[in-house]
Amino acid sequence: MNLDEYLTYRRELVDKALDDMLPRDDNDATVLNEAMRYSVFAGGKRIRPILAMSAAEVVGAKPESVLPLAVALECVHTYSLIHDDLPAMDNDDVRRGKPTSHKVFGEALAILAGDALLSFAFSVLSSPGAERVYRPDRLLKVVGELAAASGPAKLIAGQVADISCEGKAVDEATVEFIVQNKTAALIRASLTCGATLAGGTREQIEILGTFGELLGTVFQIRDDLLDLEGDAAKLGKAVRKDQDRGKATFPRLLGKEKAKELMRRRLEAALETLKPLGQTAEPLARIGEYVGSRMS
Ligand code: IPE
Ligand code: IPE
Ligand code: MG
Ligand code: MG
Ligand code: MG
Repeated sequence: MNLDEYLTYRRELVDKALDDMLPRDDNDATVLNEAMRYSVFAGGKRIRPILAMSAAEVVGAKPESVLPLAVALECVHTYSLIHDDLPAMDNDDVRRGKPTSHKVFGEALAILAGDALLSFAFSVLSSPGAERVYRPDRLLKVVGELAAASGPAKLIAGQVADISCEGKAVDEATVEFIVQNKTAALIRASLTCGATLAGGTREQIEILGTFGELLGTVFQIRDDLLDLEGDAAKLGKAVRKDQDRGKATFPRLLGKEKAKELMRRRLEAALETLKPLGQTAEPLARIGEYVGSRMS
């Protein structure tokens, strides 16, 4: 398979669905709509929506069949980035190759655009008529899982720990907690929700969840390594900031080489979990390799 073509096809599907579904300037909340769209369409790899579609495909559905979920995932993720970049959090000026939301719209509107994207995600999933397209029990499970993954026990707990550990000496368990919660939980949910909505079996969903959790840690360790060795132009965000802020990351805790080794081991374990799914999981394995070696 050609991974570039595979990713491009699915990225285009998501981008079109985002454009169709996000509110437009046809009501009086124009600045808000503009701010929501600004961050969503600034760029972005669309990895989480693609993983959801790939998981749906593994269980025998078409990628298009889970587009509302794909849109919801990207909105939740984009909200988390807008807030992550705020002066009170990581204080970043560039995201997805463009000035961050608060630089363009001011802090108040950046906060509100993030808020809006988060609740919009859930209204997309539970919009009138959704229960005629998806089995209500599956839909309810997906809404619950997405809320949990982005909620106080997972993504937010991870962000709280990330911020409160800045500049402190931390142990491995703490860094693991941060990575698992701020990043891996949503990546895991992308896969399990994709498979759930598409009618996967319990066994398939469990395998995809384990894969997602491991892939999520690979994703964040790679992100932390790219902060040290990456190219800001390619990444579309500033580099060499985590060290100065004393962020609790595996490269800081273990050193670069040991962190790379850990990432490789996690990736191997992730690929191993896919084995029982056979050939149908090949795209996920290829995405896994890409996540572990990506430059942007
Ligand atoms: C960045 O996520 C935030 C992390 C969890 C490391 P991505 O690297 O997926 O960002 P985009 O969506 O491509 O901009
Ligand atoms: C961000 O982690 C995680 C979330 C937004 C939930 P980082 O702070 O490392 O992400 P970047 O490096 O700003 O993209
Ligand atoms: Mg952060
Ligand atoms: Mg950040
Ligand atoms: Mg980072």
